[in-house]
Amino acid sequence: MICFTTFDLMNFSRDISLKQLNTFGIDIKTKYFIAFDSVHRLLEIISSDIYKQNKTFVLGGGSNLLFTENYNGLIMHNKITGIHILKDSIDSTTIEVGAGEDWHDFVIWSINRNLSGIENLSLIPGLVGGTPIQNIGAYGVEVKDVIHSVKYLSLEDRKMKVIHNKDCQFTYRDSIFKHDLKEKVIITSVIYKLSKKPLNKITYGTIKDELTILNQEPSPKSISDAVINIRSRKLPNPEKLGNSGSFFKNPIIETMQFKKLKEKFPGIIGYDLPDHKTKIAAGWLIDNAGLKGYRIADAGVHKDQALVIVNHGQSTGKEIIKLAQHIQKVILEKYEIKIEPEVNIL
Ligand code: EPU
Repeated sequence: MICFTTFDLMNFSRDISLKQLNTFGIDIKTKYFIAFDSVHRLLEIISSDIYKQNKTFVLGGGSNLLFTENYNGLIMHNKITGIHILKDSIDSTTIEVGAGEDWHDFVIWSINRNLSGIENLSLIPGLVGGTPIQNIGAYGVEVKDVIHSVKYLSLEDRKMKVIHNKDCQFTYRDSIFKHDLKEKVIITSVIYKLSKKPLNKITYGTIKDELTILNQEPSPKSISDAVINIRSRKLPNPEKLGNSGSFFKNPIIETMQFKKLKEKFPGIIGYDLPDHKTKIAAGWLIDNAGLKGYRIADAGVHKDQALVIVNHGQSTGKEIIKLAQHIQKVILEKYEIKIEPEVNIL
């Protein structure tokens, strides 16, 4: 017989829909659900019977996540907030931000204080706690460039720990939190070091052109405005059309293979990396394969940005997977390139 303590009975919700808590808008249920807004609360939760007797998943903004079936366990929703300046020096400010803070709100907070470093990462959906896991990136900046350290609760010994940037194994859309520390820690806050001198990174894509349209000199604020404009034009707003940003990672292949592909497909887009590797724009591969707008039931390839899969309304997670597998198959057959999801599939 399963026995629950009073804490368990009072605090956990049962069989609730997670439709509002994932940006794909997939309507699935979780067996148990609880939110936490402090480390103290988190420690209470991990001591509970429901935590001990079930599989668990920590949910942030649900912006990089695809549910394919009802979750037969406990979803723990991170709501730890707070933005605290730890150190203010002549050229930089070090700030600790609760993992449950909205990422874009923090970007705006930094811009209002004339701090620089994350303006290129404006309007990325999700919460602060997800940023180091995924090493979010856009328009020539990755969050690893500004992360000082990450604070987490270690589930093995229930102790709070700090891991420094150099130990986080950050690479493209990847970190130690997806490998050695996967399911072993709960991130409670992230410490960022932002510059007081504007970095003005405007070489990527169309930022420069957008600043010209806006008739603005580069500054954290104007670059943020430019990125917001570009993203709003190219990427669907998850509140209107369910999606999780880029569904696939841009594949990294040998430069030799890229050169051969370029002969066959002169329009192919690749960016040189060290060690004779090239990163390919997967959006171009999918687009050039004629898949823009392709649909399986309500799961579709976005009409403007082929790297984004959208939920046209009633799509299930399984239909989205079916579409993703179809895309992978077409890309493999056409270009001999394997593309991998960047989205976390549950
Ligand atoms: N392209 C096409 N057709 C398409 C989509 C793209 O030809 O349907 C071409 C574009 O014209 C461009 C190239 O592919 O020349 C790259 O496209 P884009 O600049 O839109 O960037 P991306 O490689 O598709 C990446 C990130 C985005 C980030 C942008 C901007 C990944 C997986 N995605 O997309 O991040 O916003 O660069 O920096 O690295 C996310 O991770 O969720 C995300 C949205």
